[in-house]
Amino acid sequence: MSAMGGVSLPTDAKSNARENRTAAHSHIKGLGLRSDGHAENNAAGFVGQTAAREACGIVVDLIRAKKMSGRAVLLAGGPGTGKTALAMAVSQELGTKVPFCPIVGSEIYSAEVKKTEALMENFRRAIGLRVRETKEVYEGEVTELTPEETENPLGGYGRTISHLLITLKSYRGTKKLRLDPSIYEAIQKERVRLGDVIYIEANTGAVKRVGRSDAYATEFDLEAEEYVPIPKGEVHKKKEVVQDVTLHDLDVANARPQGGQDVMSMMGQLMKPKKTEITEKLRMEINKVVTKYIDQGVAELVPGVLFIDEVHMLDLESFTYLNRALESQISPIVILASNRGLVPIRSSTTSTFSPFNPSLDLPPSPHGIPSDLLARLLIVPTHAYTTPEIGTIVRTRAKTEGLAVSDEALTRIAELGGRVSLRYALQLLAPASVLAKVSGREGGMVGVEEINECEDLFLDAGRSAQVIGGAVGEGMMAYVA
Ligand SMILES: Nc1ncnc2c1ncn2[C@@H]1O[C@H](COP(=O)(O)OP(=O)(O)OP(=O)(O)O)[C@@H](O)[C@H]1O
Ligand SMILES: [Mg+2]
Repeated sequence: MSAMGGVSLPTDAKSNARENRTAAHSHIKGLGLRSDGHAENNAAGFVGQTAAREACGIVVDLIRAKKMSGRAVLLAGGPGTGKTALAMAVSQELGTKVPFCPIVGSEIYSAEVKKTEALMENFRRAIGLRVRETKEVYEGEVTELTPEETENPLGGYGRTISHLLITLKSYRGTKKLRLDPSIYEAIQKERVRLGDVIYIEANTGAVKRVGRSDAYATEFDLEAEEYVPIPKGEVHKKKEVVQDVTLHDLDVANARPQGGQDVMSMMGQLMKPKKTEITEKLRMEINKVVTKYIDQGVAELVPGVLFIDEVHMLDLESFTYLNRALESQISPIVILASNRGLVPIRSSTTSTFSPFNPSLDLPPSPHGIPSDLLARLLIVPTHAYTTPEIGTIVRTRAKTEGLAVSDEALTRIAELGGRVSLRYALQLLAPASVLAKVSGREGGMVGVEEINECEDLFLDAGRSAQVIGGAVGEGMMAYVA
């Protein structure tokens, strides 16, 4: 490998990219707390549920102060009372630099991976590491970018890039570099063009686009572009680089170690994810190196949040494991959520286990959680919403989805929400808006008629159960005449 032909980790390694689950909560922008920690009744998309929001605010403060690791919080309350929304708000309050790993209890059951293994993996996705490195870099504004082509040495019609000529300009001078073709790919990936400020790591050849040189700042007014000044000093220099990764990133990157055993070469592996087994031994080894680098002040631990929704889906074995993992030295904050009251704990008998066969389950316990774990939880209750609160939530949601709803229709939906459930009310919004458009309402404005029609078209669970007369024969539905 040539001196600059290697690869390094992207500064924004993202292993928790699971945004799609939050679509139902896209109107939630945070906990909506004032600086004194009190909750506004309607702020950041959050309506009511003030006590729980304030409690979550304290949890956020504890996480920020790093006083929370190894502890667990349980959000407990009925369906549709905003537990998942609260967890999403916590993640937003923490920002993108603190890892947040959301899973659903049932996710750990898979034929391929052991339950405890799946849990451990998610634990490590929720623990971040901030590494400060001093790197030898070439940094400057790109004033020349020319790939040099040659005939393909293997014959054929194609031409290949043999070198990349790049000129970088800094405050104190310019430097012309002749680089390995592999760097050209990195340059293309970062979409570097003339006039951008970039740096190239001397040891690994990793390219990072810093922004656009502010000499070009007047080009366009409306642009999501970050303008940066031409770098000070020489082009070739030492620069402190901060990188955020999770322990899971390191596990994956080092599942088949190729370089040395120091953190930097572990990081260097990050760009080449492979599907290799991550063993307990590897994790111990990584922990050891990480601890060493933390002691030396090179790296800093950033405990994040592991959010386990529908926690009653875990079984006894997983709960025991959770208990133990919480006690380990490096542990994230665990937030659990459950809408169950007193239910049996799932047993661990996997071979004959059936979720519908309660005889295999253990005795009932609050939220389906064993008492030893319950004892160490901070429990935050969520309460049912009042009809006016539901009205405000529906209004917020309609605005986020860009739907026009008349005031009378909103009152009607809120009333339905109070009688049936918040979820039902929210779910009626989209189909009602389709109806309004089909029937040619002005501006697609949803009126009371559309809501009434939707109420007839889409049953709520209560009415649906009435329609079904009960199980007949082999589980068929029988309609009551
Ligand atoms: N206080 C609130 N303000 C604004 N939106 C809310 C509020 N509470 C809930 N919502 C919204 O209502 C919907 C249902 O809430 P959520 O999914 O958080 O309920 P949950 O308590 O997790 O229910 P379940 O126990 O069924 O999982 C979501 O779209 C959520 O964003
Ligand atoms: Mg939920």
